[in-house]
Amino acid sequence: MFLACAEPPAQTVQYSDLTPAVQRMLQSAGIDTGNFADHIAGIERKTAEREREGENDHLIFYVLQSKEFTKSARLEPALCAKQYVESGTIPRTVQTRMKQFAATTLDTGRLTYFRSLLPRENSLAHLRREYARAMQSLYAKEFAAKPRYYQSRGHSTDTRITANYALWTALSVLKASQPGLKFQRVLIVGPGMDIAPRTGLVDRYPPQSHQPYAVAQILRDLSLSETPRIECVDINDRVIQFIRNFAHQSGLRLDFQVSPGDPEYENWERNLMSKLAPVPREIAEAVSAEKLNIITQRLNSKYDLVVATNVLLYFDDTELLLAISNIESMLRAGGYFIHNELRGAIDLDMAAVGLAPVQARTVKIGEGTKAPLYDAFAIYRKK
Ligand SMILES: C[S@@+](CC[C@H](N)C(=O)[O-])C[C@H]1O[C@@H](n2cnc3c(N)ncnc32)[C@H](O)[C@@H]1O
Repeated sequence: MFLACAEPPAQTVQYSDLTPAVQRMLQSAGIDTGNFADHIAGIERKTAEREREGENDHLIFYVLQSKEFTKSARLEPALCAKQYVESGTIPRTVQTRMKQFAATTLDTGRLTYFRSLLPRENSLAHLRREYARAMQSLYAKEFAAKPRYYQSRGHSTDTRITANYALWTALSVLKASQPGLKFQRVLIVGPGMDIAPRTGLVDRYPPQSHQPYAVAQILRDLSLSETPRIECVDINDRVIQFIRNFAHQSGLRLDFQVSPGDPEYENWERNLMSKLAPVPREIAEAVSAEKLNIITQRLNSKYDLVVATNVLLYFDDTELLLAISNIESMLRAGGYFIHNELRGAIDLDMAAVGLAPVQARTVKIGEGTKAPLYDAFAIYRKK
């Protein structure tokens, strides 16, 4: 586990840490040894701002959907976004929910956290301002098909157990092709936390992070590890705190809803859920978390496997290259990196840091409501 004094702190990446190929790619984007530190400082500022926006997006999605503080009907954020952008006004139903949220004195995990985001004075003005921003952002995604939307939006911590299905498939492929393969030390970049998604908020379950426990259980099920040591890094303190506190809870409960999909997918999900209800204590105790920005920082530790799902899509091309450089530095020779970002530029980045492609596939989850739903995985190996 990450013990306070046993692990070296996260180090900020230096220009000299990068391979010559990565340095050349950065130079062609105007970044060199002279301005690298300023560029990194700029990314840190931008990440903090995007994280603040992401937390306020979750706040607004909570105010629109939660039943914890009101009997009013849930409001669908995407429809609210359309209405707001087209009319320029905040409807009465939304204003009522905002007032009810600001006035409630109830305390639940979600309510208490989201109340902490409100300023002491003028909390309704804050809600209206963040509503306008969050609705414009959501409109850009849902109705204006903004290119590279994820590369500039606020940082969401949304996570679903579904994200681990492609990962399970990737690990099954590795097991089949490499008999005897074992992973002992695993790093999860951006495990996320389900607190108030854009749609389908289920607030009868407490906020939770499940990827670290799902990955540990999958590694056990595939006999790729007995009790893997799972270390997580994330920029979000709420995610870090959940993971650090989880093993100290008495019940070790995680709650999921089975999402509809193909029978093979649903069977996989039910099987995993039954093994994580409750999470085996030895798994919970082997999971730890540390605050780290994967674009600008690295740990002085080596892992057999690094996993990053639904994280890299938030990075622009330069940020992606830096994140991949930091991930490569934390892999032991022969170690694997699995992610689900199939952006074309990524292969050049991988080659520049010395990660070789092993496999990439799309995985069907179900028919979906409008079109079939797919996830993907790509596996790379450190030479
Ligand atoms: C959308 S969630 C994905 C959660 C989970 N991996 C999944 O697939 O369900 C993205 C997570 O990455 C984290 N994250 C975003 N940018 C990051 C960065 N630069 N360094 C580390 N974590 C980051 C966010 O805080 C969030 O917890």
